[in-house]
Amino acid sequence: MLIRTLFVCAFATLSFAQGGGRGMQQPAPPAGPWMDKTLPPDQRADLVIAQMTLDEKIQLVHGGQAGRGAPSPSNGGAGWIPGIARLGIPDINMADSAVGVTRGAATSRYSTLLPSTLGLAASWDPKAGHLYGSVIGRELRDQGYNMSIGGGVDITREPRNGRNFEYCGEDPILAGKMVGQLMKGVQDQQIMGDIKHYALNDQETGRNIGNAVLDKRSMRESDLLAFEIGLRDSQAAGVMCSYNKVNGDWACENDYLLNQVLKKNFGFQGWVMSDWGGTHSTYKAAMAGLDQEMPGSGFFGDALKKSVESGEIPVARLNDMVHRILRSMFAVGVVDNPPRRQVVDIFKGLEDSQSLAEESIVLLKNSGNQLPLSSAVKSIAVIGSHADVGIISGGGSAQVDPPGGNVAPPPPLPGDAPAGRGRGGMFGRGPVYFPDSPLKAIHAHAPNAKISFDAGTDPAAAASLAKSSDIAIVFVNQPMSEGRDAATLSLPDKQDDLVAAVAAANPKTIVVLETGGPVAMPWIDKVNGVLAAFFPGNRGAEAIANILFGEVNPSAKLPVTYAKSDADLPHPQIAGLNLTPAAAPTGGPGGFGGGRGGLPPFDVPYTEGVKVGYKWFDAENKEPLFPFGCGLSYTTYTYSGLKVTPAENGLTVSFSVKNTGKRAGQEIAQVYTSMPSAAGEPPKRLIGWDRVDLAPGESKTVTVNVEPLYLSVFNEQKDGWQVVGGDYKVMVGGSSKTLPLADTVKLAGN
Ligand code: BGC
Repeated sequence: MLIRTLFVCAFATLSFAQGGGRGMQQPAPPAGPWMDKTLPPDQRADLVIAQMTLDEKIQLVHGGQAGRGAPSPSNGGAGWIPGIARLGIPDINMADSAVGVTRGAATSRYSTLLPSTLGLAASWDPKAGHLYGSVIGRELRDQGYNMSIGGGVDITREPRNGRNFEYCGEDPILAGKMVGQLMKGVQDQQIMGDIKHYALNDQETGRNIGNAVLDKRSMRESDLLAFEIGLRDSQAAGVMCSYNKVNGDWACENDYLLNQVLKKNFGFQGWVMSDWGGTHSTYKAAMAGLDQEMPGSGFFGDALKKSVESGEIPVARLNDMVHRILRSMFAVGVVDNPPRRQVVDIFKGLEDSQSLAEESIVLLKNSGNQLPLSSAVKSIAVIGSHADVGIISGGGSAQVDPPGGNVAPPPPLPGDAPAGRGRGGMFGRGPVYFPDSPLKAIHAHAPNAKISFDAGTDPAAAASLAKSSDIAIVFVNQPMSEGRDAATLSLPDKQDDLVAAVAAANPKTIVVLETGGPVAMPWIDKVNGVLAAFFPGNRGAEAIANILFGEVNPSAKLPVTYAKSDADLPHPQIAGLNLTPAAAPTGGPGGFGGGRGGLPPFDVPYTEGVKVGYKWFDAENKEPLFPFGCGLSYTTYTYSGLKVTPAENGLTVSFSVKNTGKRAGQEIAQVYTSMPSAAGEPPKRLIGWDRVDLAPGESKTVTVNVEPLYLSVFNEQKDGWQVVGGDYKVMVGGSSKTLPLADTVKLAGN
């Protein structure tokens, strides 16, 4: 007691940092030895833990709750953990920030809406990933947050998943590399990052009750590999475990996922927080590896304290939870260099968002080289998707609030609250459109053309406008959000009929897809051009127009396969979609946001195993509509001179790429391999790539080093990665289906 009092006295006289306001009152650092920046983060954490009371430890391992009626000391984000002021440990203020910092409307703050992370993955550009993360980190700092809860990397096993726009596509290596750089970008701003939703939360339907079933080898080689690479490359502070069950246990109390794979095999040193309401127990969750209940204290508050006091949960385990949190805070720098609020640099944000969008928009079709458009075009019909006023954004907890409010709100229903400016519609009825007009952006490129807009609600009227115009540009959308999936790959609201009618009236039709993920295109043979813009962010209109008019030469390539129809997918229907909600709530105490919550328990059997995306289409010999890795440019490239050399550390692959067209461009050159048949793998997997900048006529030699992990299979018996000895056919080219170069090398097994 005496010792404790002494410490309270020693560290209680705290002054407060300047800045004031919610979330900013942080203690000035006391002179405890853990404030020595030269000490390793683990040692600093242990020095703090040695001073902490049991109550203080418990305080760090669950989300804070503001006192009733009292103004919340949190910064207004999705999560807040009060720090230990007397020891100089600041509050943790977390903001959802998958595609930009959220919840701006409530606090009158501006945040940049970036293109969806699926779009980012289409850039295949790790530097773009880092830039993306640095925008988020910078704007979090400026808004007084010290942790991002973005970093989605559940792979696109289910192309209709409502959250695919928050993730990085279907290939674990591409997704892992991109999220790793994104998180590094966040943490380089001295903001803690987190990667989510661990694991196999690959659909939203019944996310609080569904049990994902998948064998360990497939899991390690697909979904978990993306996390492994992302965490290794970024050293992210946090991992958010998901709502669903995996092979019978809730992901947030799953010993295999948390203790064995994440902490032991991956060597993850940060902490595991539950998705919001995704904690289901005290003892089981704590012993399985969950470190923090978010939000609230139902399991990791008094119940955890009692369990530790009784010796049921060893105090060492509680110390481990706290250690993981504190060491991450020290390692990333949030104790030594806490955020200071300042005005967000809107202009820089817009510039970064646009450059990211320009790298992320995929040109899928360009018959007769109709694109790029000439600025001398006489008349253009712009049709659909509120393209006169805005750009659609993704919903759910990733929803960034638009400055000035939703420019295309759904018509009010009786009883609706009055729409305030910036009313975000986090789980609202309709999608949120940002004020960024494609019509105006197009007009800026063709100031003398007659440009007319038709809302696209009546296909006949739209077709008649298209007929009287030189060119028709149809914008179509697929609103997507956390909490629900698209029932099918078809565009909603009869937009396929709209495109078909316009294309029948004017074959010079270009379709711009603003979608959360892949969609079917029954009209594909009837239109001249297609751009996949995903959700392109709050400078999407300018980016789209720059590509349409050739100001920017498109370079992005698909990070997901586009199937012709649902029938070609591993599961023509999403598991659980046909279930009737149970009368009583299901899913245990946890789980906000529904996802058709209330469904009875059901399995999500991932029978396709490791065959996700292109691996499925290859193995099943099915022709996709657009294959993984494809994307056109306004120039052309040829490949030659492949050399594949087994290296001590994997493989060295070198080849030349030449720009054979008239425009400068960037080619995403891709390297795949087939494995020896003894490996029992799908026909090919991506093992590397490079973005190559080429002037017209220029040729460059590219060298891609392939690390052993990318050439390995997961051996369940050995519980480790293994290179299977035998022949590896290495293939190189511009898409997973266009691989002009091939060479076979023998690799020794291990
Ligand atoms: C989502 C998480 C999010 C959390 C906090 C949950 O519903 O699944 O991704 O971080 O809410 O908003």
